[in-house]
Order: sequence, then C-alpha cells, then structure tokens
Amino acid sequence: MEDAATLEQQGREQLERATTADELEQARVETLGRSSALTLALRELGALPAELRGARGQELNRVRGELERLHTQLRERFETRELDAQLQAAAVDVTLPGDPVPRGTAHLLTQVQREIEDVFVGLGFRIAEGPEVELEYYNFTALNTPDDHPSKAESDTLWIGPGVCLRTQTSPVQVRVMEQQPPPVYVICPGRVYRRDALDPTHSPMFQQVEGLAVDKGLSLAHLKGTLEHFARALFGPDREIRLRSHYFPFTEPSVELDVSCFLCGGAGCRVCSGEGWIEILGAGMVDPNVFGFVNGYDPEVVSGWAFGMGIERVAMLKYGIPHVKSFYDNDVRFLEQFRGAVR
Ligand code: DAH
Repeated sequence: MEDAATLEQQGREQLERATTADELEQARVETLGRSSALTLALRELGALPAELRGARGQELNRVRGELERLHTQLRERFETRELDAQLQAAAVDVTLPGDPVPRGTAHLLTQVQREIEDVFVGLGFRIAEGPEVELEYYNFTALNTPDDHPSKAESDTLWIGPGVCLRTQTSPVQVRVMEQQPPPVYVICPGRVYRRDALDPTHSPMFQQVEGLAVDKGLSLAHLKGTLEHFARALFGPDREIRLRSHYFPFTEPSVELDVSCFLCGGAGCRVCSGEGWIEILGAGMVDPNVFGFVNGYDPEVVSGWAFGMGIERVAMLKYGIPHVKSFYDNDVRFLEQFRGAVR
C-alpha cells in the first residue's frame, strides 16, 4: 500500500512534467482519474480496519485536494499562455504599410471638358445642362432648322418617337437656358450628343460637345472672335493664331468656323494639319434673330448674341495626338493611365 506522501510526490511530478495543455490533461487522468493510484487507494479505504481508515482517509483526501489545486493552477497557466500566443498570432501591426490601393485618374475626356469649362468659367460663364433625350422642338425647330434640313433625316438623327430624338448637338440647351432666364446670358453647356454615324477614326454615334452662348446688349462678332482667341490660346498655347471662315448653320447669321494655327508645325504645314497650317476647331456665329423669336424677353432689336459649339473628343484628339476616337470608349487602362493629370 503506497503511502500518501509518495502518491503526492508522484502526482506532483507527473502534473509538473506536462508541457502542454494536452499533456496536462493526460497527467490529470493518470494522477486523479478513475483508475489512478490515488483513486484506487481511496476506493480501498472501505476494506481497511476502522482504526486505520480515518487517518488514511484524511491523508488521501488532503493529497487529492493538493493535486487538484496544483492541476487547476497549471491549467490556468497553460490557458493564459495559449491565449497570449493566439493574441500574438492574430495581432495587427498598425505601423506596417497598408495594401496599396491603385489610384485612378479622371478620364481624359473629363479632364479636357474641365479644362474647357475652366477657361470660360474664368471669363464669367456659367455651366448649364440639358436632357440627352430631347424634343424635336428644342433640337431643331427653335434653332431655326427647317423641316427639310438634312440633319433631321432618319439617316442622321436617332428618333425615339414622334417629336422626340436623342439630341444631335448641345445647341438645344441654348433655347432651354433662354427660356429660364432673361438676358444677359453667358453659359457653356457640356454634354453627350448622338448621331446615326458608324464608328470610324473620327466619328462615333455618341460623342460630347461643349456649347457656348452669350447674349447681351451690344455683343458683336468682335467679342466672339476675341473670346475664341483667348480660348484657343488657353488650350493650344499662347502663340496660336485664329481665323474665322464663313460657314452656314441654321441658328446663326452670319456663321463661321474657327481655325487655329497648327500647334505642331506652327502653320508651316504638317501631318496633323494635313499640310494646311490650320486646324478646324469649332462652329460659331451670331445668334440668328429667328432663334430669339422662339423665346420671350429676347428682343433682337435690343439684344444680340453669339454662340459656338465644339466636340470634346476632337479637341482632345488634336491636342494629345490620339488617332482613333474609339480609344476614348474602350476604357483600356493602358490608354487611360497615359493621361493621368494630363491637363495642368
Ligand atoms: N451645333 C453645331 C454642330 O453640332 C455646332 C455649332 C455651330 C454650335 C455654331 C453653335 C454655333 O452654337 O453657333 O455642328
């Protein structure tokens, strides 16, 4: 019969030898479990003579208490250690650099649009917008465009229904703005326009324009010319010359087209300007009195105005040497990222 002190000694050693929580559990089963020497000794108490039973029972119960306490102590130590390890493994080092987030850039067309807007906002113009699904009335009629004008044909315009089309130009915003405010007016109107065109290097069924409209007392073609010269130099460089060429638009009289001296060859003639020395940039003219006739409060005897319209894609293609309009819409990041911060 093993004495209590030996059982205690053995039990302690066994428990203390454990190096992991699993080993400790194993040691607990062996020292305190149902078939451990200690439990067997306790079970055998009943067979002892009564005078021995009391003292031995007390001793064995004390040993069991001691070993249980030791076990609890060791278990808690292991648990703390494991928790610490877990916490450490899951710890986040907030001082490490983060995952890089790829930084985007405004689309080149957006950049060029903003550049154009900035020039005119700097001159006191306000930005106005209008709907892309437009009434025939605003897109054609109120712009003095006769019913037999070729641009109204099925082959040119995307008709949504009777009297409703996808706007073919931003010019209808002119009329919408004038309906909403009395003169003077100084606005530019950027936005998408649609035409029944097949995609080729310089045409797309959807593209973007910026319209300009100024109406005031005493405005003349000289103001238009001065404004466009300022614009051309802001966008294409301070050395640019401009020229106005006579043209026709239904809503302006007289109508002109604006050419800018080639910014690549300076006017000598090169590939960009097709040997001309000049590059056509936009259409413009003095607002036709008939257009004022479609809005209240704009008496052509009292006010005069001028307007212009240009394609944003065209300006961007010329300025950045882009050979095909489709590059703008492919959204190939390799194309787009070449123009990160292109403007300014
Ligand atoms: N809307 C014309 C076009 O799409 C451009 C234009 C020409 C606009 C003359 C104007 C203008 O405001 O006065 O071709």
